[in-house]
Amino acid sequence: NLVPMAEILNKAHKENYAVGGFNINNMEFLQGIIWAAEEMDSPLILQTSEGAAKYIGMDYVIGMVDAATKNTHIPVALHLDHGGSFEFCMKCIRNGYSSVMFDGSHYQLEENIKLTKEVVKAAHAVGVSVEAELGKLGGTEDNVSVEAKDATFTDPEEAVRFVEETGVDALAIAIGTAHGVYSGDPELDFERLKTIKGKIDMPVVLHGASGVPEADVKKAVSLGINKVNVNTDFQQAFTGKIREIFVEDSGVYDPRKYCGPGREAIKDKVIEKITFLGSNGKA
Ligand code: G3H
Ligand code: 13P
Ligand code: ZN
Ligand code: NA
Repeated sequence: NLVPMAEILNKAHKENYAVGGFNINNMEFLQGIIWAAEEMDSPLILQTSEGAAKYIGMDYVIGMVDAATKNTHIPVALHLDHGGSFEFCMKCIRNGYSSVMFDGSHYQLEENIKLTKEVVKAAHAVGVSVEAELGKLGGTEDNVSVEAKDATFTDPEEAVRFVEETGVDALAIAIGTAHGVYSGDPELDFERLKTIKGKIDMPVVLHGASGVPEADVKKAVSLGINKVNVNTDFQQAFTGKIREIFVEDSGVYDPRKYCGPGREAIKDKVIEKITFLGSNGKA
């Protein structure tokens, strides 16, 4: 009972809010995230990176997500985050993912279009959604020069061509965010986002949202971002809580006594994110 990601994102695009693309790393992440989304009556995009899918094991991802969604009342998509090859995308689709990202952002435009198109053709044939990326996400150093911006941020004209030729359901863009933690506050190119959204009338995705001030994410959502990817903030919430418990009590040994509170910390964080993304009550 998973739904294609396009179904969730087309509604978000029409009604101008964003849905979390929330990364899972283990069972506690999955539970903390879905329990929060259910409580908030929010649609949900659960995603695994290739690394996380390999760490957890594909069969376990599918088994756990099956269990988590068996009796749920919210629409849930299971999405591959940053798929690196046609082969891995197909493997996920075959195992039951309802959406895949093919990340060809490190290729030249022509090659990115060609490879993305192949994934779209195969995925759409079986009702699976596709996200792709154009432009390069930053390293975490600040103060990107104008020249560097033009070289790495998403070009609006290229975006138009890219979505027309590939037929993707959602486009991830580079406007100044980076994966992981930032050394200072990132500076987002809101003008560029506005221009791109004005030219491509479809769902747009923001990666690297951990560490971006809430007000900036909110502004990006108001300007047309419909999917906001978060991983690091949840990893920090989980590990931070566990570290706190270990410092307080060096004798603790039962994993339920620290993974449980870690899971609660993730759930609290997800509730906070869903609230400012505006997807609460949209299930
Ligand atoms: O958050 C998204 C990153 O691509 C996570 O990748 O699970 O391989 O560290 P990783
Ligand atoms: P963060 O780890 O910065 O939240 O980025 C997540 C992401 O973009 C996953 O694709
Ligand atoms: Zn990402
Ligand atoms: Na980040």
